[in-house]
Amino acid sequence: PGLDILAKRAGLLYFGTAIDNVVLNNTQYTSIAHNASEFGQVTPSNGQKWMYIEPARNVFNYSMGDAIVLPAIAHRQLRRCHNFVWHNQLPDWLTTGNWTKSELEGILENHIRHEAQHYYGECYAWDVVNEAFNDNGTLRSDIWLDTIGPEYIALAFRFARKYTRPGTKLYYNDYGIERINNKSLAVAAMVEDFLSREEPVPIDGVGLQAHFTAGTSPGYENITRVIEVFAEKGVETALTELDVRVKLPDSSEEMVQQAKDYADSVRACVDSESCVGVTVWDFWDTVSWVPDTFPGFGDACLWTANFTKKPAYYAISDVLRGD
Ligand code: G3I
Repeated sequence: PGLDILAKRAGLLYFGTAIDNVVLNNTQYTSIAHNASEFGQVTPSNGQKWMYIEPARNVFNYSMGDAIVLPAIAHRQLRRCHNFVWHNQLPDWLTTGNWTKSELEGILENHIRHEAQHYYGECYAWDVVNEAFNDNGTLRSDIWLDTIGPEYIALAFRFARKYTRPGTKLYYNDYGIERINNKSLAVAAMVEDFLSREEPVPIDGVGLQAHFTAGTSPGYENITRVIEVFAEKGVETALTELDVRVKLPDSSEEMVQQAKDYADSVRACVDSESCVGVTVWDFWDTVSWVPDTFPGFGDACLWTANFTKKPAYYAISDVLRGD
């Protein structure tokens, strides 16, 4: 049985993958990506981001998002939609405009309204705000914070609730929050603040991206502990972008370490009541974002460039079987 079948037996809602538009013409790739017994959930790794969805002001183009979402619907794979608000992959018209606070709030609402309505009812979850915090727990300086102020996050969640189908899970998603540290505690404090307001800010989940390096990943204990912190604040969690990079050229020892790090991470989610599912940030080494961003590192995914499953695949399979 594939990973999603095993994940559901283990009590998760899904085991999923990110899918990238650049390789949709590769049928070997798409036949695995849309194999629902392997992946019961998909996330477009780029196709729903602002620069592609609203390339010119108030001009919307859903072709890249649809190219992933529509086949996923046909194959009965859940969709985690990604993302409404981020500092990265914004169109030039947006980043170079000299907006007032109220203009930018209007742009934000208009973008969320259009994209949420286009994908109305089609997303199990939306990553409403992505990567808003610095490692030290302060908010990242970007167009949103600098123009609107810290309230832009709450505002985005309120817009998301207003325009998505009721029941859509609204997530805050970030990296480096897979253990208790300044950043994860700041996210937890934000959740507590949101849910304790007189008019609560609607937030349902925190996405732990889980981009790890073999040998230094946080491990089972740290991940379960921070998931518990978020659960105490009242939100669900998911591992939303799991991958484990290794130093190149890789070796069989590194593949063993990578398998252990993948397995420990998945086990942490399985063992945590509030963790709903695991998504790998693509399953195919050839499209991984890692080599471009971390020169000298790579081979972070479950399938090699020639579509062979790695030890990490079987280690996850064993965890999900309860071995
Ligand atoms: O769109 C162009 C295309 O026209 C051109 O042919 C191609 C040539 O390289 O580049 C394409 O743009 C690339 C885009 O991915 C689509 O493939 C960009 O150069 C590249 O920078 C971009 O990288 C993406 C990255 O986000 C941007 O920061 C990765 O694929 C994507 O996996 C990555 O995803 C992020 C999550 O959204 C948030 N968390 C971290 C994660 C990893 O960085």
